[in-house]
Amino acid sequence: MQALYFEQFGGVEQLKYGELPQPQPHDDQVLIRIKACGLNFADIYRLRGNYHIAPHTPYINGYEGAGVIAAVGTAVTEYQVGQRVFFADVPLAQAEYVVTQPEKLIPLPDTISFKLAASIALQGLTADFLAHDLGCDQPGTTVFVHGLTGGVGQILAQMLTADGINVVGVTGSETKRQLALKQGAQQVFLRTDDWIKQVQVGTPIMTVYDGVGATLADSLAIVQPRGKVVFFGMAAGDPAPLDPVKMLNSSKSLLTGDLWDYLDSGQARLKRSQRLFSYFQAGKIQLTAAQQFSLADGRAAYQALLNEHTGKIILTL
Ligand SMILES: NC(=O)c1ccc[n+]([C@@H]2O[C@H](COP(=O)([O-])OP(=O)(O)OC[C@H]3O[C@@H](n4cnc5c(N)ncnc54)[C@H](OP(=O)(O)O)[C@@H]3O)[C@@H](O)[C@H]2O)c1
Repeated sequence: MQALYFEQFGGVEQLKYGELPQPQPHDDQVLIRIKACGLNFADIYRLRGNYHIAPHTPYINGYEGAGVIAAVGTAVTEYQVGQRVFFADVPLAQAEYVVTQPEKLIPLPDTISFKLAASIALQGLTADFLAHDLGCDQPGTTVFVHGLTGGVGQILAQMLTADGINVVGVTGSETKRQLALKQGAQQVFLRTDDWIKQVQVGTPIMTVYDGVGATLADSLAIVQPRGKVVFFGMAAGDPAPLDPVKMLNSSKSLLTGDLWDYLDSGQARLKRSQRLFSYFQAGKIQLTAAQQFSLADGRAAYQALLNEHTGKIILTL
């Protein structure tokens, strides 16, 4: 099969596209023919060698994708050849074929295309657990989202708005600001604005969603006493060390989470993805079109993720 892979940690120059042996499903596994897969910051972290990575030589990146069942092991009863599926936590997915256990798969409704599923699987399920397991804000409250027009940011901000929560945030350009306002955010600052001071004198912020990382101290500065910062990523680099005593003195809390710990059973994957899809099926979340690259053009896709971009990047086969 064709795959995008690397043999040494490093930059995008380490990525190769070529022929590797096709995986064969065991009795309790399913083989999936991939139609589209998503690209995420975690793929960059793994390529650089500074993120958890299971031993595999050569290593094939990618954890989310959508496709069709190509073969099932003799002990598998819940899936049949030809069925449409998607997944968010199956390793070695940036390839023509991948094998996995059936509980890792989620049936794909006809109303959701392979490309949309590959665009929203990981970032959408992340937005879902951030909003519904960590944020848990009541309708009518005001929250702050960093990186409003990023992949997670676009879904999270629209999900919160659909849940009746007022979204304020910050983004990188006027075009992105207009996009975030069109998607329902109430107030959007530019990073070049004096936004910290303006947020501090505005409506009290109950929760800050921070996937940018380097901004963590700013997040703690803008959240109100008894509020919380939901820290979920480092798109702009690691945060500076925090002082828990200072946080205690102002009754501010920090919550963190990793999607894998919320996708802990087949039932959890199904329930969470149904909730995510319901926002799309009701037209409550609309995303900018994903930037598409063929798998063969994988290096360019990784470079695009590292460059200034808006929304999701997917690889198609
Ligand atoms: N915890 C989890 O389970 C989990 C799961 C998935 C992703 N994540 C994390 O979530 C974060 C977002 O991921 P994503 O896939 O949505 O990436 P993305 O589409 O590239 O979005 C990242 C956004 O962060 C903002 N940003 C980037 N560099 C910045 C800088 N120097 N200063 C301030 N803001 C900056 C940008 O927002 P604007 O474009 O609006 O300016 C950018 O769009 C990443 O840190 C990722 O690792 C965590």
